[in-house]
Amino acid sequence: NVPKITVVGSINIDTYLNVPQLPHSGKTVSSSTSFVYPGGKGINQSIGAAKLGHRVTLIGNVGSDIDSASVYNALKEYGVESFGVKRCNQEKTGQAFIFVESSGHSMISILSGANNILTPEDIRKRKRFFKNTGYCLIQSEIPLDTVAEACRIAHECGAKTILKPSVCGFIPSEVLSGVDILVPNEEELNEICPAQSTLQEKTAALLEYGIETIIVTLGENGCYVRTADLEKHFPAVPFPSVDNTGASDAFISALAAYLLYGYSLEEAVRIATYAAGFCISREGVVPSLIDKRSLETYIIQKEKSLIK
Ligand code: RIB
Repeated sequence: NVPKITVVGSINIDTYLNVPQLPHSGKTVSSSTSFVYPGGKGINQSIGAAKLGHRVTLIGNVGSDIDSASVYNALKEYGVESFGVKRCNQEKTGQAFIFVESSGHSMISILSGANNILTPEDIRKRKRFFKNTGYCLIQSEIPLDTVAEACRIAHECGAKTILKPSVCGFIPSEVLSGVDILVPNEEELNEICPAQSTLQEKTAALLEYGIETIIVTLGENGCYVRTADLEKHFPAVPFPSVDNTGASDAFISALAAYLLYGYSLEEAVRIATYAAGFCISREGVVPSLIDKRSLETYIIQKEKSLIK
């Protein structure tokens, strides 16, 4: 019975606006095109892992609105199990508004909606969906006490936990101690570890909480990986930058997928940097997540020995 991947996290409808440059205070910009996709880190990571060949279950909340239908349709299209996604009446489906400038850099603002009322109690009620999970991917675009409960239940069911911090600022140690692999970007790392100054000091502090692996994503500079025995920088694979939205989702889903296939941490990180590269080379997140065959065919041409 092959273990699956369970994802607990955010579900949004993403509205993209293509702009020549990102707006800022005093600078109004005009968008050339816009498009809408189901997104949210929970959706992105679950579809990413499903495209890479795993059985995936998503746990999250949507509203009882028209947007929820697009969410269920997208999950169905990519074969993600949606029994753990519940419609609620109190809030609408989450929304994300994403500006993407011509260099590929993007800026996101989120209206949490139903994601914000996913409670620890909801996670306990949906515990059966964690059965036979190898890796549980969680994102903090849901309340932090719910993140903590998801980590606790995932461990109870024998799974490893991977947390992508997002929009949460500082994360209390009680939450961090339930995380096996933490994947922040530099800004998120600074918010989690405001007291330390260097990458080394910050990640050393996180190891103290019992987190086994910290992977700091550094955009075009690749990523920095820290465990008790490893401290290593992995370069990014050069891809043209069209839209960098969701690169970390592509990275995390590939990381979990290949760890679950039995690859070592270093191998899985290398493979995940290719998946992230593919994601930034196309518009949107879900349409840019690569499938297993294309990813492996591409990698074999570049680094033959990486794929077993
Ligand atoms: O990581 C990209 C995602 O962040 C978007 O899909 C958006 O919905 C936000 O959750």
